[in-house]
Amino acid sequence: MMPSPTTRASELRTPYSGRAALEGVLAEGCEMQHAVIRQYGTQTIVLLEPSSIRHCFITNAVNYRQAAARKRLMEPVLGESILTGEGDISVKVRQQIATLFNRPALETYAARIREHAEAATGDLDDGVGDAAAMTARIALENLSLTLFSGALSDHVEDLLSALDAVYDAMHGLPLLGEEGGVAYYPHVDRPARQDAARRLRQVVHGIVERRLAEDAPRGDLLDRLIGLRRDAARGDVSAEQMVGDVVTFIIAGHETTAATVAWALFLLSRDAVALARASAETDRVVNDGVPPGEWPDRLPFLLACVEETQRLYPPVPVITRQAIEDDALPGLDIGKGSVVMAPVRLIHRMHRYWDQPGRFRPDRFLPGNREQIERYSYLPFGLGPRMCIGAAFGNREATIMLAVILRRFRPRYAGGADPVPLLKVVLRADNGIPMLFERRQGPQR
Ligand code: HEM
Repeated sequence: MMPSPTTRASELRTPYSGRAALEGVLAEGCEMQHAVIRQYGTQTIVLLEPSSIRHCFITNAVNYRQAAARKRLMEPVLGESILTGEGDISVKVRQQIATLFNRPALETYAARIREHAEAATGDLDDGVGDAAAMTARIALENLSLTLFSGALSDHVEDLLSALDAVYDAMHGLPLLGEEGGVAYYPHVDRPARQDAARRLRQVVHGIVERRLAEDAPRGDLLDRLIGLRRDAARGDVSAEQMVGDVVTFIIAGHETTAATVAWALFLLSRDAVALARASAETDRVVNDGVPPGEWPDRLPFLLACVEETQRLYPPVPVITRQAIEDDALPGLDIGKGSVVMAPVRLIHRMHRYWDQPGRFRPDRFLPGNREQIERYSYLPFGLGPRMCIGAAFGNREATIMLAVILRRFRPRYAGGADPVPLLKVVLRADNGIPMLFERRQGPQR
């Protein structure tokens, strides 16, 4: 029987033997260089060495494309998207939109992000709420206000509801229990995914249609995506052709940041010392009247909390590619069609690369310490030609959102057991992150 959308991670069953190959990866002294498992009926090579990851994702990246199984999984939702296309087109897209993600642009977004986050969190102390749902709502509106000139704002609730249904229709499960990051999808409810995808695409279709009917250009992300499509088509484009591009950005651009902030609030609520330090740092910077565009640079500890959160709960916990032709690494043949995986979450928790990997220790990312981190053992934004285009946007936004919340509130986890991370397109908490926000008293307000 197909599990219902509310199925909990613990109720999903592991139907295959990949787990045995990975047993021991998280143990101290593990020297394994890779593990071979089967996922979706294909040989999957789980890369555990930075040099192998560098080889497949950077040095010989031309021999690897997006994994077919992952594309199939997301196809009904994304349809076709130039952003995630292969080769030259994605390079061109990146070049054309790069100025929307550069430093001056990010600084102009900061004031809008702060203002909106402040308005949206004014009454956070009004009982227990789901921090994950709250941050998703704020991050989607932030995306709308910054990159879409407000075009998504009237549809935030519809978009969130359709997206939730998409995520509920596809559950990925870690293979090694709570600590392990190698995920697969034991639950894909195809009719539910189809229905949710249709709803999502319908809303986005309307948004694009309205923009196509406008005369005056806005120069925002939506306009640029339309321009790129027109160039590619050498003529007019329809709203339908644009839906995949916009949906890609909506999912990639808000859920990842939202998950980061929600997990960070959970981790900070569990660490009184780190919370006090982050709150005091925020008070100093805000009291000094520092403009929000400079906050991320002036809040090194809070930014380190964001980065440490992404080590423990990377929103994208695995990154896969598929070999176009045969390839080889020392001691390992990679056959054409094999999937290679950078198991981001697993690597983030290996003793080989991290001291006390299970502990939340933001200090690791402070200047002076972060230089010690082994290259390619920390990959929240991926690597190589397809590395996240919104990395700086996401971390700056997450830092501002956290600063706004910590300035006024003290987060307290209101659940029983710890939230269970489950891959629902990004790493989300199964059944949310219930939090209580106590209003802080005193001069900081
Ligand atoms: C903290 C937040 C974020 C995290 C952890 C994150 C993570 C990632 C990762 C790991 C990838 C690479 C996936 C792969 O190689 O298969 C990626 C790609 C991407 N990200 Fe992000 N992301 C974040 C925020 C954002 C934001 C804010 C945006 C846009 C506003 C964005 C837009 C994209 C896009 C468009 C891609 C696809 C790039 C391509 O395929 O060429 N991301 N992200």
